[in-house]
This record gives sequence, structure tokens and C-alpha cells, in this order.
Amino acid sequence: MSVLTVNLAEDSYNILTGSGLLPSLGRQCADVGLGSRVAIITNPTVNAIYGGIVRSSLEDVGCVVTVIEIPDGEEYKNAATLSGVYDALIEAGLDRKSCIVALGGGVVGDLAGFAAATFLRGIPFVQVPTTLLAQVDSSVGGKTAIDHPRGKNLIGSFYQPRLVLIDVETLSTLPDREYRAGLAEVIKYGVAIDRSFFEYLEDHAEDLIAKDQGCLETVIRRCCEIKAHVVELDERESGLRAVLNYGHTLGHAFEAVAGYRDLVHGEAVALGMVLAARISAGMGHCSEADVARISGLITRFGLQVLPPKAERARLLEAIMADKKSRNGTISFICNQGIGSFAVEQLLPDKMLTLSGLEV
Ligand SMILES: NC(=O)c1ccc[n+]([C@@H]2O[C@H](COP(=O)([O-])OP(=O)(O)OC[C@H]3O[C@@H](n4cnc5c(N)ncnc54)[C@H](O)[C@@H]3O)[C@@H](O)[C@H]2O)c1
Ligand SMILES: [Zn+2]
Repeated sequence: MSVLTVNLAEDSYNILTGSGLLPSLGRQCADVGLGSRVAIITNPTVNAIYGGIVRSSLEDVGCVVTVIEIPDGEEYKNAATLSGVYDALIEAGLDRKSCIVALGGGVVGDLAGFAAATFLRGIPFVQVPTTLLAQVDSSVGGKTAIDHPRGKNLIGSFYQPRLVLIDVETLSTLPDREYRAGLAEVIKYGVAIDRSFFEYLEDHAEDLIAKDQGCLETVIRRCCEIKAHVVELDERESGLRAVLNYGHTLGHAFEAVAGYRDLVHGEAVALGMVLAARISAGMGHCSEADVARISGLITRFGLQVLPPKAERARLLEAIMADKKSRNGTISFICNQGIGSFAVEQLLPDKMLTLSGLEV
């Protein structure tokens, strides 16, 4: 097991990564002094596979455990579901010393984290992420949120967990499509921040596709290190943290235009990264060879690099709806070669032209 500390003064916490860690959750929670009344927030899919192990691990150290299931799917990451969670927390008699355990992917983690941030003005919570995306991205950094009918993640807060426990073995049951989508976020760290990590991914692509446990542990740990470092420098996204949005400006636009069901988030980010690389080449930040390398790795991971047909006007609308614009321009994260980044203020129209999209 590896231990990584996210250093945020009194909000510091450890990220534990390893294989077969779930049964030790109870002991780890006790070690950081978490209370004995616990609510596990999860969904039926994850609960059926891992709920039992997590529950008994907590009961073994004397916790009184309540399991709260929320329906599976992004469409339930909303105020109505959250309201039901508050009801269940009150019903279970949780107090300020009690603790919430988020067991699942990013949807469960975001909603459970926001419930923890707001219930009784904030109670401790622990992230037990079970998707690759949640293990390398959403469980680290303390962004919690629910969606609003007018947009994703519009209601939320920064609220750090007390512990993140990543059991790499849980990925063995993750559907292939979700796994590949998570790999897009993994590539993001390499392209925008860490060249040697990008090279590691190129060298170990086959191992990763085969879900080799050792390789996965290395990769997940490195992603968490990078994200933790960025968050330590800019917890509330006043600057640097925006680098984690690499590939997301056009990715989000495609996600919105294609409909959230047709394209899962990571698939949209993969497309967004290829387009971001082309824009970066157009702005002189990287070479055509870099673009080919980035899109080559994305393809090897079984992700699409050719965007679906979309109308220019609808894409422009989606870009503007997603981002705060300054005088009509948008802060766009370019890759500087591979492994570094640069920020450009770009007009959305120029962005689309530079991306080479036929729209
Ligand atoms: N807070 C942040 O910083 C941050 C960052 C990125 C994304 N997000 C959020 O994360 C969410 C997406 O998260 P996601 O991609 O994990 O999707 P998800 O939570 O919907 O999980 C994907 C699917 O996998 C299933 N699943 C989860 N773990 C499993 C396992 N081990 N075995 C079998 N099935 C499993 C889930 O039930 C679900 O059907 C979005 O709401 C997004 O806004 C948040
Ligand atoms: Zn993302």
C-alpha cells in the first residue's frame, strides 16, 4: 500500500492506494479518529459488489453502520436525491462526530461529499472511489457538487475528505467503457503536466489495457500525486488548477451537443484533447508530431479521436454556456509540447477553426 499526503494545513489528508484494501477501511478510519456512527452512501450497482465488504470492515471496528443507496446515474446527482440523503442521515441519527463514506464512482463521491459538506454544517467524510475516473480525479481535491437542471455541478462546495482509500482491485468489475473513459483523464496528466508519465503510459499501454494491478497502482498513484500537487498550490481554482481542464473545453461542448448518454465524459475528454492538441499546434505550442503522438496513445486505449458531426453554431453555444468568457474570449489550456501547458485567450470561433473541425 502506498500513502500520499495532500498537504492543506488543517485540511490535510492521506490517499491510500493498493490492491485489496477494502477490508482495511474500518481500521484506517479508526486510525484517523473518525467517529463510530457511519453512513455509507453508494448505489445499487456498487453496493451489490462491494457494500458487504465495506460494511463488515466498519462493523468489525465497532461502527454502527447505515447504508444509503442512491439510484445509479448522473441524472440522479441532483437536489431531489440529496434531499432524500439528508432525510436518511437524520433518520439514522448521525451527529457532527459521525462520518459519511462515499462508496462508488464520481457521481456518488460528488453527491456524498456535498451532503457531508452541508449536513450539520459539515461532518467528516471518506472517499472510497471505485471507478478509474474517481480514483485518478474526482475523489482527490475536495470539489463536491450536485447538478441543476440548467447545468452540471452548478451547486457545490470545496470540502476535503478526511481520507481517500483506493482499492485498485475494484476496477476488475468496472465496465470496459467506463474504464477506457477513465484512461482519458490519465492521459490528460501526461500531456498537460508530466512528460515522463506520458512516456510511461506509451511504454505500458498493453499492461494498462490488461488492467495489470502493479501498473495500475503506479499510474493511479502518479495521477493522485500530480492532482494533489496542483490542488495544494491552488485549492480553489484561482489559477493553476485550471490546467486540469485540459481537453475539457471542447470535450464538454461535445458532451452537451452529443447528449450525455451518447458520449460519456472521458470519451468526450479524449476528443477534446485531440482538438486541443491541434489548436496548440496551430498556436505554435507543439509540433504536428506531438499531435500524432497524443492522438496515437488515445487510439491505443480504445478511445475515439474523430468527433461526431456537430453544427458549428451549437458547439459555439455550448462552449459559451460552459465557460466564463472575458470580452468574448475564453481561457484555453494548450499543451506546450508534451508534458507542459500554456494558457491562451481565444475567441471560440478561432478555437473551432484552429481545431480543424469540419463544422
Ligand atoms: N469532483 C471532481 O473533482 C470531479 C472531477 C471529475 C468528474 N467529476 C464528476 O464525476 C462524475 C462521473 O464519475 P464516474 O465517471 O465515476 O461515473 P459514475 O459515478 O456514474 O460511475 C460510472 C458507472 O460505473 C458503475 N460503477 C462504479 N464503480 C464500479 C465498479 N467498481 N464495478 C462496476 N461498476 C461500477 C457506476 O454504478 C456507474 O454505473 C460526474 O458527475 C462528474 O461531474 C467530479
Ligand atoms: Zn474530466
